[in-house]
Amino acid sequence: MSSPALTNLMHETRRFDPPAELAEHANVTADAYGSATQDRLAYWEEQAGRLTWAEPFTRVLDWDDPPFAKWYVGGKLNAAYNCLDRHVEAGLGDRIAYHWVGEPENDTRDITYAELTDEVCRAANALLELGVRTGDRVAIYMPMIPETVVAMLACARIGAPHTVVFGGFSSTALQDRILDCDARIVITADGGYRRGIPSALKPAVDEALKSCPDVRNVVVVRRTGQQIEWNEGRDLWWHEVVGKQSSEHECEAFDAEHPLYVMYTSGTTGKPKGILHTTGGYLVGCSWTQWAVFDLKPDIDVYWTAADIGWVTGHSYIVYGPLSNATTSVMYEGTPDAPHKGRWWEIVEKYEVSILYCAPTAIRTFMKWGAEIPQKFDLSSLRLIGSVGEPINPEAYMWYRETIGGDRCPVVDTWWQTETGMIMITPLPGVTSGKPGSAMTPLPGVCAAVVDDSGKPVQKGSGGYLVLTEPWPAMLRTIWGDDQRYVDTYWSRFPGVYFAGDGAKLDEDGDIWLLGRVDDVMNVSGHRLSTTEIESALVSHPKVAEAAVVGANDPDTGQAVNAFVILRESAADEGAGAEIVTELRDHVAKEIGPIAKPKSIMVVLELPKTRSGKIMRRLLRDVAEKREVGDVTTLADSSVMDLISANLAGGKQED
Ligand code: PRX
Repeated sequence: MSSPALTNLMHETRRFDPPAELAEHANVTADAYGSATQDRLAYWEEQAGRLTWAEPFTRVLDWDDPPFAKWYVGGKLNAAYNCLDRHVEAGLGDRIAYHWVGEPENDTRDITYAELTDEVCRAANALLELGVRTGDRVAIYMPMIPETVVAMLACARIGAPHTVVFGGFSSTALQDRILDCDARIVITADGGYRRGIPSALKPAVDEALKSCPDVRNVVVVRRTGQQIEWNEGRDLWWHEVVGKQSSEHECEAFDAEHPLYVMYTSGTTGKPKGILHTTGGYLVGCSWTQWAVFDLKPDIDVYWTAADIGWVTGHSYIVYGPLSNATTSVMYEGTPDAPHKGRWWEIVEKYEVSILYCAPTAIRTFMKWGAEIPQKFDLSSLRLIGSVGEPINPEAYMWYRETIGGDRCPVVDTWWQTETGMIMITPLPGVTSGKPGSAMTPLPGVCAAVVDDSGKPVQKGSGGYLVLTEPWPAMLRTIWGDDQRYVDTYWSRFPGVYFAGDGAKLDEDGDIWLLGRVDDVMNVSGHRLSTTEIESALVSHPKVAEAAVVGANDPDTGQAVNAFVILRESAADEGAGAEIVTELRDHVAKEIGPIAKPKSIMVVLELPKTRSGKIMRRLLRDVAEKREVGDVTTLADSSVMDLISANLAGGKQED
């Protein structure tokens, strides 16, 4: 767990204290830490006051049957009402909810809270007409367009849990998710724009549904106008079914523990886990953290989370957090380089964005493109900048702070997960200091620790595993349909506490530095990918006998997927040239999605295994990171590594 490079950096670390004017008007003051420690549940009771409850809760937390939590017991509320209607009722109907920016230039739309409420009511009525009832699951496979938010909130409004599947996933991945949560309706679009080209979505849905006989209807938004196949009777145009509905819809209040959504994420086995979030605790968590961590002033700020709605960051900080706080947000459909590499900064300038939240992988890309690009734009509206998704290396932090934040904006490096639902470890910009590369301390009301192998908290200056020692409102409630896997994955490594799967280190001040995953999960450009899932995809190819995948450090994407494959004898005769590598990379893209494509595939004759047959990924990581191969004494056959290294020296690795 120890990392000499990191230790050096920690010694040299700079520290940025909160700017005085921010500290003076900060939403949350330093007392919050003390009061939350004194009475954590009273603290979370107070934060629940941000929401409008149709019926008050009678108990903050029921932890009588751990690890199955119930928050805000007995309370009733509607998530969509909290995100929309109540703001309109409070006279904020004309406030812009989203400055939506399409990828094609000048394709923009400003949507007010009143307009969004109307659209959501129409969509809710449409879903009801299609027979969707409280508790039914709806799959959403969409580009970054306003209808995606409308679809999610329409589901929330009628109590139908949504499962949003990232538009970059393949038809196979979509099919697995539809089947796992037994969705009966799919909402999609003909396509979306990606790097100036309309990319198709509907064909993937058609393909996926070949093996999903229970899906009754596919509702299709017309976004690009491209030609698509039409399945009469099953497929319906969004503008037809939603357009004709009334904008009147009286929403019902649901139990605080009513399922709000299922979001699939990679775990250490091949099968993605359906993370279940429920209504009350999740919404309290997103709402409070968006307000506290970004020191949000909803009357004046323009807030932009530059992420995809298909991931948890989009759910919590493009949709539920910002809307519950009546925020004006920017939502951008495309990539940062379409049609030019200054697109993000042009958007910041145009909409006077004051808070920007994005991933280190994007920051590293901008660094590579050069400071002169953002410097052409006026970024003086920014006052706070955030980072999420992977450890931010100190160089990228400093570049972000200086080049984008003009050396005046605090940087919040926020650690959290799909499972936590809300930001957990981060500086509070008006209260605590920030250090480049450290996520600092748990938020008030959040209890985290770094523990050793036996579960004992480590000393300052040492490393170990990150755990969360008390339940929190936005925590996952279970894995959809698999309570046992929930218990085994998160609550069994160290009994009684939540195992996050991340390594971490405490510095001499007791601040937390995240060191990356300690399990077989990779983090590629902030996307979570499972080594096992990619190995299974490779082995499903008829030419592959065996595969091992490792995440190797990569200067651009944080980690990169490196695969080692043994070909079946019949295929091996055809040779191990570039063609097979391309074929296998495409196969992984088809099975999972383009984000999972290995950066490099090396065809080998043997894989390094222990005597018990376990693949020693550590050694493969050494190869992938072009280091001297470590200790091989536990290998069943130590000559295997010589062979692999010789293969590498012979230039057989294909990028
Ligand atoms: O390894 C941690 C890393 O991303 C994982 C969670 O991934 P996911 O569920 O896809 O959610 C990403 C967005 C919340 C974590 O287990 N991670 C996330 N944020 C940070 C981080 N690692 C270091 N520093 C962070 N700020």
